[in-house]
Amino acid sequence: MTTNAPAACSANEEQERFWNGVAGPLWVAAEEETERHTGPFGAAALVVAEPTAGEAALDVGCGCGATTIALATAVGAGGSVLGVDLSAAMLARAGERAAANGMSQVRFRRADAQVADLGCGSFNLVFSRFGVMFFADPSAAFANLRRSLHPRGRMVFACWQAPSANPWMAVVNRGAARIFSLEPPSHDAPGPFALCDPDRLGAVLRAGGFSAVEITEHVEQLHLGAGQPVEGWLHQRLLMGPARAAYLDAGSGRQREVRAVLADELAAYGVDGEDPESGFVMDAAAWIVEARP
Ligand SMILES: C[S@@+](CC[C@H](N)C(=O)[O-])C[C@H]1O[C@@H](n2cnc3c(N)ncnc32)[C@H](O)[C@@H]1O
Repeated sequence: MTTNAPAACSANEEQERFWNGVAGPLWVAAEEETERHTGPFGAAALVVAEPTAGEAALDVGCGCGATTIALATAVGAGGSVLGVDLSAAMLARAGERAAANGMSQVRFRRADAQVADLGCGSFNLVFSRFGVMFFADPSAAFANLRRSLHPRGRMVFACWQAPSANPWMAVVNRGAARIFSLEPPSHDAPGPFALCDPDRLGAVLRAGGFSAVEITEHVEQLHLGAGQPVEGWLHQRLLMGPARAAYLDAGSGRQREVRAVLADELAAYGVDGEDPESGFVMDAAAWIVEARP
C-alpha cells in the first residue's frame, strides 16, 4: 500500500532533506496534537471540496494521512485516493492508518508533487491540507497538479494566512528569530506562509493554469499546550520551527534561557495564570482555496 522508494526526482531538495529527515519523525510524534490544530481547517476544506462516492482524489503533501483517510471514506471502495509526500516516516504512518482502516482504495507514493508524473486528467479532486506551501517554483508545481486534474475537476486546499493572523506560530517563531538574530524568512520562500498573500496566491494559480479561483477565510481559536509544562511544549515547537538549528546549537543551558524568555512572552495568551499546564489560547487563520481549470 505504501512505497518508501526515494522520490524519483525532486526539485525541492532542501524541503526533501527537511521533511524526509528531522521533521518526519517529529511530525509523527506530534501527530495527535497537530491533528487537533489543523483538523478544523481540513474539515472546512473538505466541505468545500465535496468528495463523492466513486471519485478519484489526490492528497498533496498528505503527511500522516488524516485527510487521505477522510477522502477515502468519502469516495468509498468504488473510488480511489493517492497520497503523495516527501517524507518516508510520515508516509509509513499514513500507510499504517489506512491499513488499520482496511482501505484498499488508498495508495501512497513518495514523490515531489512539483515534478512527479501524476498522470494527465487522472483526478476529479486535487486536495491538500497545508501541503502546498513548500514548492521552490509554485507556478510550476500548480501547473503539474493542474495537468493531473480532470478538465472538469477542482482543486481545494488550505494554506496559512500571514504570520500576523497566526500568533500560534508567529509568537514562538518570531521570538526565537529575534533571540538567535535570524533573518525573518521571506514570504516568497517555501514555508508555511509562502501563499499567505492572496494576490500572490491568485497569480501563482493563474500561472499554473487555473482560471476560476475562490479564496475564503477560515479562522479558529486554538487551545495549545494544555496538560504539559510550558517548557516541554516550547521545546517541541522550537525543534519543529525555523530556528531549530540555532536552538540545537545553543546547548542545554542557553536553550533553558530561551524557553524562559518565550514562556514570558506566551503568558499573555495563558488560559489560567494559576495553572502552569492550562495552555494558551491563540488565533489561527487560513485561506480555503478552490480553483478550477
Ligand atoms: C505542514 S505538513 C502537512 C501534512 C498533512 N497534510 C497534514 O495536514 O497533517 C506539509 C507536508 O507537505 C509535504 N511536502 C512538502 N513539500 C512537498 C512536495 N514538494 N511534494 C510532496 N509533499 C511535500 C511534507 O513532507 C509534509 O508532510
